[in-house]
Amino acid sequence: MGSKPSQTKLKLVTISIISFFIAFIYLGMSFNPKRQETMIFHTLQDYKQPTQIFPRPIIKPSWYKFLENETKYTRFKIGLVNVHGVPIEVKDLHDEQAELVNVHFRRVNRSVMWKHLFPEWINENVPQKSSQCPEIPMPEVEDYVDLDVVLARVPCENATSVYRLQVNLVVANLLVKNGMDSNGVYREMYVVFIGPCSPMLEIFRCDDLIWHEGNVWIYKPDLTKLKQKILMPVGTCQLATPFAEQGREVWRQYGSSSSTSNKIAHKQREAYVTVLHSSESYVCGAISLAQSIILSNTTKDLILLVDNSISQEALHSLKQAGWKIKIIERIRNPHAKRGTYNEWNYSKLRIWQLTEYDKLIFIDADFLFFKNLDHFFVFPQLSAAGNCRHVFNSGIMIIEPSECTFKTLMEKTLSIVSYNGGDQGFLNEVFSWWHRWPGKLNYLKNFQTDERRKYDYPEDAYAMHYLGLKPWMCYKDYDCNWDALVYRDFPNDLIHAKWWEVYNLMPRELQKFCDLTPQMDTRIRLERQKAKIANFSDGHWKIQVKDPRRLSDSDL
Ligand SMILES: *[C@@H]1O[C@H](CO)[C@@H](O)[C@H](O)[C@H]1NC(C)=O
Ligand SMILES: *[C@@H]1O[C@H](CO)[C@@H](O)[C@H](O)[C@H]1NC(C)=O
Ligand SMILES: *[C@@H]1O[C@H](CO)[C@@H](O)[C@H](O)[C@H]1NC(C)=O
Ligand SMILES: *[C@@H]1O[C@H](CO)[C@@H](O)[C@H](O)[C@H]1NC(C)=O
Ligand SMILES: *[C@@H]1O[C@H](CO)[C@@H](O)[C@H](O)[C@H]1NC(C)=O
Ligand SMILES: *[C@@H]1O[C@H](CO)[C@@H](O)[C@H](O)[C@H]1NC(C)=O
Repeated sequence: MGSKPSQTKLKLVTISIISFFIAFIYLGMSFNPKRQETMIFHTLQDYKQPTQIFPRPIIKPSWYKFLENETKYTRFKIGLVNVHGVPIEVKDLHDEQAELVNVHFRRVNRSVMWKHLFPEWINENVPQKSSQCPEIPMPEVEDYVDLDVVLARVPCENATSVYRLQVNLVVANLLVKNGMDSNGVYREMYVVFIGPCSPMLEIFRCDDLIWHEGNVWIYKPDLTKLKQKILMPVGTCQLATPFAEQGREVWRQYGSSSSTSNKIAHKQREAYVTVLHSSESYVCGAISLAQSIILSNTTKDLILLVDNSISQEALHSLKQAGWKIKIIERIRNPHAKRGTYNEWNYSKLRIWQLTEYDKLIFIDADFLFFKNLDHFFVFPQLSAAGNCRHVFNSGIMIIEPSECTFKTLMEKTLSIVSYNGGDQGFLNEVFSWWHRWPGKLNYLKNFQTDERRKYDYPEDAYAMHYLGLKPWMCYKDYDCNWDALVYRDFPNDLIHAKWWEVYNLMPRELQKFCDLTPQMDTRIRLERQKAKIANFSDGHWKIQVKDPRRLSDSDL
């Protein structure tokens, strides 16, 4: 009997030891990390919501972090424009971070060229219709509401690419439509441009750039200014539309004056400006220009930028004529040959530094005003009248001063070669998307036929651009452009006489800057002599000159 219980004891011990080993092995197995993973994997499958428990790690692209901090939003609705596939800039974005919406729009017909949007000439006398411009399709913006951000890839094409313009305009339309509530009140909108090419500076102002790193630019656009841009015609196929920044049409007929309260409010922030540099030969022009602007009853400031080539005496008289004077250092065109006549024409770029003004109408010193132009300040940068081909004439134009625009322009002077070596060619490269002002703002004294040279001074002209030899470089009696073959496109006696009407109203101490120099006097006499020998049929060389500015009474 005594052995039986001991046998049972032994069995029990053996079983416990075996159980212990089994338990130990089992435990050891459960501590094996591989096994643990497998088990948890099974568990996750049971839950059927794996990402809520173990999400992909959240990687925030640095532009996203910037927007998050800037807006304090935790999730963005992002409209994608011209973004195909998944670019590296957005590949790490999660559903919890952003809802991505592809914006669909029909690509502009490839047969539409820049020259169709920017024709050399349009008939300004017929009522303007939008059908005068080729169609640039826009998305159905109503389908893309509640966007917080637009993310776009700008096509890397040249400055006259129609598709590049379309993408920029699509983005601008989405931002304005999404940013404005039913009461017309704006909320903040953001645009992220990705890829190697920045947006068009004509539409997205550098002042609104809030972040830039590598291939990513973030803008927080001033939506009132952007709205005015999208209200402009797509090109110069139509005249610019007189919408103020609020998007309201300010005046229907050119010439009817805008509300006076508005005029006074803006007076100190808007001005006419011109530039004199390198010589005193245009001092007379600047004086007569100021006089003509004042005669137009302007309420705007008159600003004159001058370099150190203008004497104290001339500065004193320019001030007396109405200009507020600011001294500048002239700017050299880095591509110009030393000593050429337009070596320093980039001095005009200094007007962008006048940031105490919101808008400036620049006018060359060889202009004269015949009507009040103040209501043209409602137009945005860059509005101007046409020249030839698809370019504008930089003799009169409206610009919006900005230190960063000036900096951008200065950088571009190094890479852009102007087609005519002057500021006009340069500015047309930078502002290839411009808005057309009527030609009567920049009436070019330029006539291709004898018939047209006899034209009267045009009644509807707002401002005359005295091309060719300037009136003060001629006799009062007639336009000396008649006498020189190389200037045969420019003479017109009636328009010439119009300039002297303004001169006659000037005080004598200002008139003296328009006196003939011995060189001018000699040149006129020589050309007159040549015209006489050539027996020019217009016969101006026969006129008995009475101009008291002549330095001697005898002919050559
Ligand atoms: C976050 O935004 C605040 C202003 O809202 C700014 O002062 C701060 O520098 C920003 N931080 C980063 C990391 O951008
Ligand atoms: C593009 O324009 C051309 C010429 O105007 C026309 O023949 C063609 O049908 C247009 N294509 C599309 C897709 O609209
Ligand atoms: C600019 O690009 C457009 C479209 O890509 C092309 O048609 C045009 O010829 C280019 N112009 C210049 C000056 O390279
Ligand atoms: C300027 O005002 C005067 C006086 O009111 C007026 O006679 C003249 O016609 C005005 N000039 C222009 C260009 O409107
Ligand atoms: C450059 O400026 C001078 C006057 O300073 C002017 O006579 C000339 O026409 C300008 N050249 C161009 C190409 O604009
Ligand atoms: C000059 O031209 C006129 C016609 O315009 C002509 O009658 C006259 O004979 C010419 N004089 C000379 C010297 O050629």
